[in-house]
Amino acid sequence: MAQRNVILLGGPGAGKGTQAERIVADYGLPHISTGEMLREAVAKGSDMGREAQKYMESGQLVPDEVVIGVVRDRLAEPDAAEGFLLDGFPRTVPQAEALDAMLAEAGRAITHVVLIDVPAEELVQRIAGRRSCSVCGKLYNVTFDPPRTAGVCDLDGGELVQRADDNEDTVRSRIAVFERQTAPLIGYYTDKGLLRNAPGGGKLPDEVYAQVGQILAD
Ligand code: AP5
Ligand code: MG
Repeated sequence: MAQRNVILLGGPGAGKGTQAERIVADYGLPHISTGEMLREAVAKGSDMGREAQKYMESGQLVPDEVVIGVVRDRLAEPDAAEGFLLDGFPRTVPQAEALDAMLAEAGRAITHVVLIDVPAEELVQRIAGRRSCSVCGKLYNVTFDPPRTAGVCDLDGGELVQRADDNEDTVRSRIAVFERQTAPLIGYYTDKGLLRNAPGGGKLPDEVYAQVGQILAD
């Protein structure tokens, strides 16, 4: 099967992590979420985590050189050799250029860029209701995708928690940052003939996945 080197592009709360769970189940690609990796570094209290935390708490982007280094190291791991799923990276044009360069060095290239496009007001609603399992990370939404028992993960009984950056003020700045710094990537990947749109507004996760699955099947 041809290698799939996939980017999921979309605003905060667009459903990148939610679609990634489904893609991983169907295609077995390693899920590389820079947000998750940075949150782990914050939780460990490493130097990089302490540096990143300042930006994440206010909804700003962590500096390009930090995130590019994290992704370079992660893509060099053996499980990424046969394909990967990037979630939340790249987020700026310099990050996209650095990614192209590091893949080209290895004779590789991005094969699919999937844009999950959701209107801003819906993003705010989704993030307000987001919870995730403190044990396995599975995502829920108190309104759109609730667990069977409130506050408890269906899979392992873990406690459901809210992310530190999921408050309304930070969400508004994350949306503004997306529009200013990340939306230019839509043009960047359109020009390369790679961008495919999976409209996500008003659609349930499985309805969005019906489109995403079709895009990845190509
Ligand atoms: P990151 O963790 O990447 O956050 P984000 O981009 O803001 O995206 P989210 O994780 O909030 O949303 P999502 O699209 O994954 O949605 P989800 O599936 O959870 O980044 C966090 C921070 O780290 C950044 O602000 C920045 O500081 C830093 N960072 C990360 N990467 C960086 C980079 N490359 N450069 C610089 N800094 C970086 O869904 C959201 C909710 O909606 C859930 O509750 C879910 O159940 C629900 N939901 C999902 N789909 C649907 C649907 N179709 N209908 C209804 N509800 C839905
Ligand atoms: Mg996410």
